Amino acid sequence: MKLLVTGGSGFIGSNFIRHVLTTHPDDRVVNLDKLTYAGNPANLADLERDPRYTFVQGDVCDGKIVRDACRGVDAIVNFAAESHVDRSLMEPDAFLKTDVFGVFTLLEAVRELKIARLLHISTDEVYGSVERGSSRESDPVRPSNPYSASKAGGDLLALAYWHTHRVPVVITRSSNNFGPYQYPEKVIPLFVTNALDDQPLPLYGDGRNVRDWLYVLDNCAGIDLVLRKGADGEVYNIGGGHEVENVVLTRQILQLTGRPETLIRPVKDRPGHDRRYSVDSKKVHQLGWTPRHRFGDALRATVEWYKGHEAWWRPLKSGEFRAYYERQYGL
Ligand code: NAD
Ligand code: TYD
Repeated sequence: MKLLVTGGSGFIGSNFIRHVLTTHPDDRVVNLDKLTYAGNPANLADLERDPRYTFVQGDVCDGKIVRDACRGVDAIVNFAAESHVDRSLMEPDAFLKTDVFGVFTLLEAVRELKIARLLHISTDEVYGSVERGSSRESDPVRPSNPYSASKAGGDLLALAYWHTHRVPVVITRSSNNFGPYQYPEKVIPLFVTNALDDQPLPLYGDGRNVRDWLYVLDNCAGIDLVLRKGADGEVYNIGGGHEVENVVLTRQILQLTGRPETLIRPVKDRPGHDRRYSVDSKKVHQLGWTPRHRFGDALRATVEWYKGHEAWWRPLKSGEFRAYYERQYGL
Protein backbone atom coordinates (compact mmCIF):
# COMPACT_ATOMS: atom_id res chain seq x y z
CA MET A 1 0.00 0.00 0.00
CA LYS A 2 0.93 3.61 -0.46
CA LEU A 3 -0.29 5.57 2.56
CA LEU A 4 -0.74 9.25 3.15
CA VAL A 5 -0.18 9.81 6.87
CA THR A 6 -1.14 13.27 8.10
CA GLY A 7 0.41 14.57 11.31
CA GLY A 8 3.12 11.93 11.01
CA SER A 9 5.76 14.09 12.67
CA GLY A 10 3.92 14.07 16.00
CA PHE A 11 3.93 11.47 18.75
CA ILE A 12 1.58 8.69 17.61
CA GLY A 13 1.99 9.40 13.88
CA SER A 14 5.77 8.99 13.97
CA ASN A 15 5.49 5.74 15.93
CA PHE A 16 2.86 4.57 13.41
CA ILE A 17 5.00 5.34 10.34
CA ARG A 18 7.91 3.40 11.83
CA HIS A 19 5.54 0.54 12.71
CA VAL A 20 4.14 0.37 9.16
CA LEU A 21 7.52 0.43 7.42
CA THR A 22 8.80 -2.27 9.78
CA THR A 23 5.83 -4.64 9.61
CA HIS A 24 4.94 -4.02 5.93
CA PRO A 25 8.34 -3.54 4.26
CA ASP A 26 6.77 -3.10 0.80
CA ASP A 27 4.52 -0.21 1.86
CA ARG A 28 5.34 3.42 1.11
CA VAL A 29 4.43 6.42 3.24
CA VAL A 30 3.93 10.10 2.45
CA ASN A 31 3.87 12.19 5.63
CA LEU A 32 1.97 15.50 5.35
CA ASP A 33 2.63 17.60 8.44
CA LYS A 34 2.42 21.32 9.15
CA LEU A 35 5.19 21.09 11.76
CA THR A 36 3.40 22.99 14.51
CA TYR A 37 5.13 23.22 17.91
CA ALA A 38 4.21 19.51 18.34
CA GLY A 39 5.58 18.32 15.00
CA ASN A 40 9.22 17.38 15.12
CA PRO A 41 11.31 16.07 12.18
CA ALA A 42 13.68 14.52 14.75
CA ASN A 43 10.93 11.96 15.52
CA LEU A 44 11.61 10.34 12.13
CA ALA A 45 15.27 11.23 11.60
CA ASP A 46 16.08 7.52 11.11
CA LEU A 47 13.80 7.38 8.04
CA GLU A 48 15.01 10.55 6.30
CA ARG A 49 16.99 8.62 3.69
CA ASP A 50 14.58 5.70 3.36
CA PRO A 51 13.31 5.62 -0.24
CA ARG A 52 9.91 4.38 0.97
CA TYR A 53 9.36 7.58 2.99
CA THR A 54 8.51 11.09 1.70
CA PHE A 55 7.90 14.20 3.79
CA VAL A 56 5.68 17.10 2.69
CA GLN A 57 5.32 20.16 4.89
CA GLY A 58 1.77 21.52 4.68
CA ASP A 59 -1.58 22.15 6.32
CA VAL A 60 -4.42 19.60 6.16
CA CYS A 61 -6.82 22.54 5.89
CA ASP A 62 -5.36 23.45 2.48
CA GLY A 63 -7.34 21.54 -0.18
CA LYS A 64 -4.72 21.91 -2.91
CA ILE A 65 -1.86 20.68 -0.76
CA VAL A 66 -3.98 17.74 0.39
CA ARG A 67 -5.05 16.78 -3.14
CA ASP A 68 -1.44 16.98 -4.38
CA ALA A 69 -0.24 14.80 -1.51
CA CYS A 70 -2.95 12.24 -2.31
CA ARG A 71 -1.48 11.38 -5.71
CA GLY A 72 -1.30 7.58 -6.12
CA VAL A 73 -2.35 6.96 -2.53
CA ASP A 74 -4.40 3.88 -1.52
CA ALA A 75 -5.42 5.13 1.92
CA ILE A 76 -5.09 8.06 4.31
CA VAL A 77 -4.49 7.87 8.06
CA ASN A 78 -5.28 11.18 9.74
CA PHE A 79 -3.30 11.94 12.90
CA ALA A 80 -3.07 15.70 12.20
CA ALA A 81 -4.59 17.53 15.14
CA GLU A 82 -4.13 19.99 17.90
CA SER A 83 -4.02 17.50 20.73
CA HIS A 84 -3.55 19.09 24.15
CA VAL A 85 -6.60 19.83 26.34
CA ASP A 86 -4.90 22.60 28.38
CA ARG A 87 -3.92 24.49 25.22
CA SER A 88 -7.50 24.18 23.92
CA LEU A 89 -8.64 26.08 27.03
CA MET A 90 -6.22 28.94 26.25
CA GLU A 91 -6.39 29.14 22.45
CA PRO A 92 -9.15 27.03 20.87
CA ASP A 93 -9.00 28.51 17.33
CA ALA A 94 -6.39 26.14 15.94
CA PHE A 95 -8.34 23.18 17.40
CA LEU A 96 -11.45 24.06 15.43
CA LYS A 97 -9.44 24.64 12.28
CA THR A 98 -7.36 21.47 12.25
CA ASP A 99 -9.59 19.04 14.15
CA VAL A 100 -12.80 19.96 12.28
CA PHE A 101 -11.96 21.83 9.06
CA GLY A 102 -8.89 19.63 8.47
CA VAL A 103 -11.11 16.53 8.57
CA PHE A 104 -13.56 18.21 6.19
CA THR A 105 -10.73 18.95 3.75
CA LEU A 106 -9.59 15.32 3.83
CA LEU A 107 -13.14 14.03 3.37
CA GLU A 108 -13.61 16.23 0.31
CA ALA A 109 -10.32 14.99 -1.18
CA VAL A 110 -11.26 11.34 -0.56
CA ARG A 111 -14.65 11.93 -2.15
CA GLU A 112 -13.27 13.72 -5.21
CA LEU A 113 -10.26 11.45 -5.83
CA LYS A 114 -12.12 8.24 -4.87
CA ILE A 115 -9.48 7.11 -2.39
CA ALA A 116 -10.32 3.67 -1.05
CA ARG A 117 -10.05 4.46 2.68
CA LEU A 118 -9.73 7.28 5.21
CA LEU A 119 -8.84 6.14 8.71
CA HIS A 120 -9.53 9.02 11.06
CA ILE A 121 -7.78 8.91 14.44
CA SER A 122 -10.00 10.04 17.28
CA THR A 123 -10.08 9.76 21.04
CA ASP A 124 -12.03 8.29 23.96
CA GLU A 125 -12.43 11.91 25.16
CA VAL A 126 -15.33 12.45 22.71
CA TYR A 127 -17.55 10.33 25.01
CA GLY A 128 -16.98 12.77 27.87
CA SER A 129 -16.42 11.78 31.47
CA VAL A 130 -17.79 8.34 32.46
CA GLU A 131 -18.19 7.84 36.19
CA ARG A 132 -19.13 4.16 35.87
CA GLY A 133 -18.89 1.48 33.18
CA SER A 134 -17.19 1.90 29.80
CA SER A 135 -18.17 3.77 26.63
CA ARG A 136 -19.22 1.73 23.62
CA GLU A 137 -18.91 2.86 20.02
CA SER A 138 -22.70 3.22 19.78
CA ASP A 139 -22.83 5.66 22.74
CA PRO A 140 -23.56 9.30 21.96
CA VAL A 141 -20.65 11.74 22.08
CA ARG A 142 -20.72 14.17 25.02
CA PRO A 143 -17.45 16.11 24.79
CA SER A 144 -16.73 18.60 27.55
CA ASN A 145 -13.75 20.72 26.50
CA PRO A 146 -12.78 22.52 23.28
CA TYR A 147 -10.31 19.77 22.31
CA SER A 148 -12.77 16.90 22.68
CA ALA A 149 -15.60 18.98 21.17
CA SER A 150 -13.45 19.65 18.09
CA LYS A 151 -12.51 15.97 17.83
CA ALA A 152 -16.19 14.99 18.15
CA GLY A 153 -16.99 17.50 15.39
CA GLY A 154 -14.46 15.82 13.10
CA ASP A 155 -15.87 12.37 13.93
CA LEU A 156 -19.47 13.40 13.28
CA LEU A 157 -18.58 14.99 9.97
CA ALA A 158 -16.69 11.86 8.90
CA LEU A 159 -19.66 9.64 9.79
CA ALA A 160 -22.01 12.04 7.98
CA TYR A 161 -19.86 11.76 4.82
CA TRP A 162 -20.13 8.00 5.06
CA HIS A 163 -23.88 8.19 5.58
CA THR A 164 -24.60 10.64 2.79
CA HIS A 165 -21.86 10.13 0.20
CA ARG A 166 -20.53 6.68 1.10
CA VAL A 167 -17.05 8.19 1.59
CA PRO A 168 -15.16 5.16 2.99
CA VAL A 169 -14.18 6.33 6.48
CA VAL A 170 -13.32 4.32 9.54
CA ILE A 171 -12.56 5.80 12.97
CA THR A 172 -10.46 4.66 15.92
CA ARG A 173 -11.00 6.14 19.38
CA SER A 174 -8.12 5.26 21.64
CA SER A 175 -7.48 5.92 25.28
CA ASN A 176 -4.46 7.92 26.58
CA ASN A 177 -1.21 6.92 24.86
CA PHE A 178 2.29 7.01 26.28
CA GLY A 179 5.73 6.00 25.01
CA PRO A 180 8.72 7.40 23.11
CA TYR A 181 8.56 10.73 21.23
CA GLN A 182 5.61 12.19 23.20
CA TYR A 183 5.82 15.97 23.47
CA PRO A 184 6.58 16.83 27.10
CA GLU A 185 3.37 18.81 27.69
CA LYS A 186 1.40 15.57 28.26
CA VAL A 187 1.39 14.22 31.78
CA ILE A 188 3.73 11.21 31.50
CA PRO A 189 6.64 12.83 29.60
CA LEU A 190 6.15 16.07 31.56
CA PHE A 191 6.36 14.31 34.92
CA VAL A 192 9.23 12.02 33.86
CA THR A 193 11.38 14.88 32.53
CA ASN A 194 10.52 17.18 35.46
CA ALA A 195 11.44 14.39 37.88
CA LEU A 196 14.77 13.78 36.09
CA ASP A 197 15.48 17.51 36.59
CA ASP A 198 14.31 17.41 40.26
CA GLN A 199 11.52 19.85 39.37
CA PRO A 200 7.99 19.76 40.88
CA LEU A 201 5.30 17.57 39.28
CA PRO A 202 2.16 19.75 38.99
CA LEU A 203 -0.74 17.42 39.85
CA TYR A 204 -4.18 18.84 39.08
CA GLY A 205 -6.92 18.95 41.72
CA ASP A 206 -7.13 15.99 44.09
CA GLY A 207 -5.11 13.76 41.72
CA ARG A 208 -7.92 11.18 41.65
CA ASN A 209 -8.90 11.56 37.97
CA VAL A 210 -8.64 8.29 36.10
CA ARG A 211 -7.14 7.64 32.67
CA ASP A 212 -6.83 4.30 30.83
CA TRP A 213 -3.22 4.03 29.65
CA LEU A 214 -2.27 2.49 26.30
CA TYR A 215 1.30 1.95 25.13
CA VAL A 216 1.71 3.74 21.82
CA LEU A 217 3.07 0.68 19.97
CA ASP A 218 -0.05 -1.28 20.96
CA ASN A 219 -2.18 1.54 19.58
CA CYS A 220 -0.17 1.51 16.34
CA ALA A 221 -0.83 -2.23 15.93
CA GLY A 222 -4.56 -1.62 16.52
CA ILE A 223 -4.68 1.25 14.04
CA ASP A 224 -2.86 -0.86 11.45
CA LEU A 225 -5.35 -3.70 11.92
CA VAL A 226 -8.37 -1.39 11.62
CA LEU A 227 -6.80 0.19 8.52
CA ARG A 228 -6.55 -3.20 6.79
CA LYS A 229 -9.48 -5.13 8.30
CA GLY A 230 -11.97 -2.61 9.72
CA ALA A 231 -15.36 -2.02 8.08
CA ASP A 232 -16.33 1.23 6.36
CA GLY A 233 -18.49 3.60 8.41
CA GLU A 234 -17.51 1.92 11.70
CA VAL A 235 -15.91 3.23 14.88
CA TYR A 236 -13.44 1.10 16.87
CA ASN A 237 -12.48 1.88 20.46
CA ILE A 238 -8.89 0.99 21.40
CA GLY A 239 -8.38 0.97 25.17
CA GLY A 240 -5.26 0.02 27.09
CA GLY A 241 -7.25 -1.78 29.79
CA HIS A 242 -5.11 -0.16 32.47
CA GLU A 243 -7.09 2.45 34.41
CA VAL A 244 -5.19 4.33 37.07
CA GLU A 245 -5.63 7.46 39.19
CA ASN A 246 -3.21 10.26 38.34
CA VAL A 247 -1.73 10.29 41.84
CA VAL A 248 -0.90 6.57 41.63
CA LEU A 249 0.72 7.08 38.21
CA THR A 250 2.70 10.03 39.61
CA ARG A 251 4.07 7.90 42.46
CA GLN A 252 5.07 5.17 39.99
CA ILE A 253 6.98 7.73 37.91
CA LEU A 254 8.78 9.00 41.02
CA GLN A 255 9.70 5.45 41.98
CA LEU A 256 11.03 4.65 38.50
CA THR A 257 13.09 7.85 38.40
CA GLY A 258 14.30 7.38 42.01
CA ARG A 259 12.88 10.73 43.14
CA PRO A 260 11.04 11.58 46.41
CA GLU A 261 7.25 12.12 46.71
CA THR A 262 7.95 15.62 48.02
CA LEU A 263 8.28 16.59 44.33
CA ILE A 264 4.48 16.25 43.96
CA ARG A 265 3.04 19.77 43.74
CA PRO A 266 -0.79 19.91 43.99
CA VAL A 267 -1.98 22.73 41.72
CA LYS A 268 -5.35 24.27 40.81
CA ASP A 269 -7.53 21.85 38.87
CA ARG A 270 -8.01 22.06 35.11
CA PRO A 271 -11.39 23.76 34.45
CA GLY A 272 -14.03 21.16 33.51
CA HIS A 273 -11.51 18.35 34.14
CA ASP A 274 -13.10 15.04 33.03
CA ARG A 275 -13.04 12.64 35.96
CA ARG A 276 -12.64 9.36 34.15
CA TYR A 277 -12.41 7.90 30.66
CA SER A 278 -13.01 4.26 29.96
CA VAL A 279 -13.78 2.49 26.69
CA ASP A 280 -15.15 -0.94 25.89
CA SER A 281 -12.77 -2.41 23.27
CA LYS A 282 -14.65 -5.65 22.49
CA LYS A 283 -15.15 -4.68 18.87
CA VAL A 284 -11.43 -4.28 18.08
CA HIS A 285 -10.67 -7.42 20.11
CA GLN A 286 -13.07 -9.28 17.80
CA LEU A 287 -11.03 -7.99 14.87
CA GLY A 288 -7.99 -9.70 16.44
CA TRP A 289 -6.26 -6.96 18.46
CA THR A 290 -5.08 -7.13 22.02
CA PRO A 291 -2.48 -4.98 23.82
CA ARG A 292 0.84 -6.85 23.91
CA HIS A 293 2.70 -4.73 26.45
CA ARG A 294 2.13 -4.84 30.22
CA PHE A 295 1.66 -1.38 31.67
CA GLY A 296 4.45 -1.63 34.28
CA ASP A 297 7.01 -2.84 31.75
CA ALA A 298 5.98 -0.25 29.17
CA LEU A 299 6.13 2.59 31.72
CA ARG A 300 9.61 1.46 32.81
CA ALA A 301 10.75 1.28 29.16
CA THR A 302 9.31 4.75 28.57
CA VAL A 303 11.14 6.23 31.57
CA GLU A 304 14.36 4.59 30.32
CA TRP A 305 13.74 6.05 26.84
CA TYR A 306 13.47 9.60 28.24
CA LYS A 307 16.56 9.01 30.39
CA GLY A 308 18.47 7.94 27.28
CA HIS A 309 17.13 10.67 24.97
CA GLU A 310 17.86 13.95 26.75
CA ALA A 311 19.12 15.36 23.46
CA TRP A 312 15.61 14.84 22.09
CA TRP A 313 13.55 16.43 24.89
CA ARG A 314 15.83 19.14 26.34
CA PRO A 315 15.48 21.46 23.33
CA LEU A 316 11.68 20.94 23.39
CA LYS A 317 11.48 22.18 26.99
CA SER A 318 12.99 25.57 26.20
CA GLY A 319 11.64 28.39 24.00
CA GLU A 320 7.93 28.07 23.14
CA PHE A 321 7.42 25.43 25.82
CA ARG A 322 8.92 27.59 28.58
CA ALA A 323 6.45 30.42 27.82
CA TYR A 324 3.54 27.93 27.72
CA TYR A 325 4.65 26.32 30.98
CA GLU A 326 4.85 29.60 32.85
CA ARG A 327 1.45 30.68 31.54
CA GLN A 328 -0.15 27.32 32.36
CA TYR A 329 1.39 26.60 35.75
CA GLY A 330 2.89 29.87 36.95
CA LEU A 331 5.89 27.76 38.05
P1 NAD B 1 0.75 15.43 18.54
O1 NAD B 1 0.29 16.76 19.03
O2 NAD B 1 1.97 14.82 19.10
O3 NAD B 1 0.97 15.50 16.95
C1 NAD B 1 0.09 16.16 16.09
C2 NAD B 1 0.80 16.32 14.74
O4 NAD B 1 -0.11 16.96 13.83
C3 NAD B 1 2.05 17.21 14.80
O5 NAD B 1 3.10 16.62 14.07
C4 NAD B 1 1.59 18.51 14.15
O6 NAD B 1 2.64 19.22 13.52
C5 NAD B 1 0.57 17.99 13.15
N1 NAD B 1 -0.43 19.01 12.78
C6 NAD B 1 -1.13 19.83 13.59
N2 NAD B 1 -1.92 20.64 12.88
C7 NAD B 1 -1.74 20.31 11.58
C8 NAD B 1 -2.29 20.79 10.36
N3 NAD B 1 -3.20 21.76 10.35
N4 NAD B 1 -1.89 20.23 9.21
C9 NAD B 1 -0.95 19.23 9.21
N5 NAD B 1 -0.38 18.76 10.33
C10 NAD B 1 -0.78 19.28 11.50
O7 NAD B 1 -0.51 14.48 18.71
P2 NAD B 1 -0.57 12.92 19.03
O8 NAD B 1 -0.57 12.75 20.51
O9 NAD B 1 0.39 12.19 18.20
O10 NAD B 1 -2.06 12.61 18.54
C11 NAD B 1 -2.31 12.20 17.21
C12 NAD B 1 -3.79 11.94 17.05
O11 NAD B 1 -4.23 10.97 17.99
C13 NAD B 1 -4.65 13.18 17.29
O12 NAD B 1 -5.68 13.19 16.36
C14 NAD B 1 -5.20 12.99 18.68
O13 NAD B 1 -6.45 13.62 18.81
C15 NAD B 1 -5.33 11.47 18.74
N6 NAD B 1 -5.24 10.87 20.08
C16 NAD B 1 -4.15 11.11 20.87
C17 NAD B 1 -4.07 10.49 22.12
C18 NAD B 1 -2.88 10.68 23.02
O14 NAD B 1 -2.89 10.16 24.16
N7 NAD B 1 -1.84 11.36 22.60
C19 NAD B 1 -5.10 9.63 22.55
C20 NAD B 1 -6.19 9.42 21.70
C21 NAD B 1 -6.25 10.03 20.45
P1 TYD C 1 -2.98 14.75 29.66
O1 TYD C 1 -1.69 14.02 29.47
O2 TYD C 1 -3.02 16.21 29.40
O3 TYD C 1 -4.07 13.98 28.81
P2 TYD C 1 -5.69 14.19 28.77
O4 TYD C 1 -6.06 15.41 29.49
O5 TYD C 1 -5.93 14.30 27.31
O6 TYD C 1 -6.26 12.95 29.40
O7 TYD C 1 -3.45 14.53 31.15
C1 TYD C 1 -3.66 13.23 31.69
C2 TYD C 1 -4.19 13.40 33.10
O8 TYD C 1 -3.18 14.03 33.91
C3 TYD C 1 -5.42 14.30 33.18
O9 TYD C 1 -6.32 13.81 34.16
C4 TYD C 1 -4.85 15.63 33.62
C5 TYD C 1 -3.65 15.24 34.48
N1 TYD C 1 -2.54 16.22 34.47
C6 TYD C 1 -2.03 16.72 35.67
O10 TYD C 1 -2.48 16.38 36.78
N2 TYD C 1 -1.01 17.62 35.60
C7 TYD C 1 -0.49 18.05 34.42
O11 TYD C 1 0.44 18.89 34.43
C8 TYD C 1 -1.01 17.52 33.20
C9 TYD C 1 -0.46 17.95 31.87
C10 TYD C 1 -2.04 16.60 33.27
